[in-house]
Amino acid sequence: MDKKVLVVFGTRPEAIKMAPLVKELEQTPGFTPVVCVTAQHREMLDQVLECFDIRADMDLNMMKEGQSLYSLSADLLRGMEEVFRKDPYDLVLVHGDTTTAFIGALAAYYAKVPIGHVEAGLRTYDKYAPFPEEMNREWIGRVADMHFAPTKLAAAHLLKENRTRHIYVTGNTGIDAMKWTLNAPFTHPLQHKLRKETRWILMTMHRRENWGEPMNNVFQAVKRIVQENPDIELIYPVHPNPAIQKAVSDALAGQDRIHLTAPLDVVDLHHIMKRSYMVLTDSGGIQEEAPSLGKPVLVLREKTERPEGVTAGTLKCVGTRTPNVMEGMRKLLHDRKAYAAMAQAANPFGDGHASARIVRAIGDYFDIGHGSSSNASWGS
Ligand code: UD1
Ligand code: UDP
Repeated sequence: MDKKVLVVFGTRPEAIKMAPLVKELEQTPGFTPVVCVTAQHREMLDQVLECFDIRADMDLNMMKEGQSLYSLSADLLRGMEEVFRKDPYDLVLVHGDTTTAFIGALAAYYAKVPIGHVEAGLRTYDKYAPFPEEMNREWIGRVADMHFAPTKLAAAHLLKENRTRHIYVTGNTGIDAMKWTLNAPFTHPLQHKLRKETRWILMTMHRRENWGEPMNNVFQAVKRIVQENPDIELIYPVHPNPAIQKAVSDALAGQDRIHLTAPLDVVDLHHIMKRSYMVLTDSGGIQEEAPSLGKPVLVLREKTERPEGVTAGTLKCVGTRTPNVMEGMRKLLHDRKAYAAMAQAANPFGDGHASARIVRAIGDYFDIGHGSSSNASWGS
């Protein structure tokens, strides 16, 4: 009998990184994947489902405008209770560090179903940065039965925390997704609006710990740098959270050469990233994607759980203070050597085969081997 694998996700980044895994499970004999979306995000999730042509078997439709962590968590737990009451599963897969992932794992534990954690072991060891993601992933790590760590460093964190069994170093499935998106056509009209001879800067910013003053400080920095440099254009797809929309619009609307857009679908986002000169972001996923395209990233955070990119030279944490962000941007814009040092294509986060490694490891776990996972490791 096929192993029934419940794949739970709810936000944009989880959907992008679970999509290749869903496809891999669908293609592998012995597994029946069942996709349960919580829709913690609505429009941003639907964009991804459409892009990757994934049909959800269950849609809990949880998003409420301006939802709090309390209400979202409570709603998700009740929603997941129904899911587990209806049908039995052999395994539940959750991804990363969102509220959906944490509550999905908690609910699976209550139902006594084994849990596989995709993108396991990322840590800053600062419980408020990122908030609440750092604790979400630690808690999931505590209850998970299989840990799919994207890098050796992530696996080392788990070992240090005494998780000694069923840790697999697989690479990040986000890099698998890029193989697909960059092969799809780039049709977004923005490409015709932007001048060909300008240097494009891609920016995103949404983290909770950056709301308020940190975000405003960054906006002041980018506004001044764009004014100073007539040959640059900033593209900023703005997160739909009403608090962020207002902050961005108050600070940056109507500025010359600053293009505020709705969230881009992931195909367009990756093509724009590929065409960009540099990236400014506090996003997790973008920190992983940009290095594989050789794009320098100024990380708008004091610390990152993706230090592999800092070591590889493509990420630099500039934080959120106005002078530091301005200095980081000026250096990359005007110092060719500094730019060249960061603009190296490096792929510390994966090689595009993470999903295949994860599915092989699951096969081994259930003893329905599709090839040994002992040679499943990435990044030797
Ligand atoms: C969530 C994750 C964060 C992840 C981010 C990716 C948690 C605690 N946070 O944060 O780890 O980095 O997603 O984007 O799980 N909204 C819409 N439409 C959408 C999506 C969001 O209108 O498609 C608005 C809604 O008003 C919603 C609000 O954004 O209430 C916040 O969404 P939520 O998922 O709670 O938090 P994020 O900041 O998106
Ligand atoms: N992304 C996208 N459209 C956008 C902004 C980001 O498709 O307008 C993609 C991005 O390429 C990456 C993922 O969304 O794959 C990252 O999601 P996000 O920044 O929302 O969350 P995080 O990774 O910080 O949890």
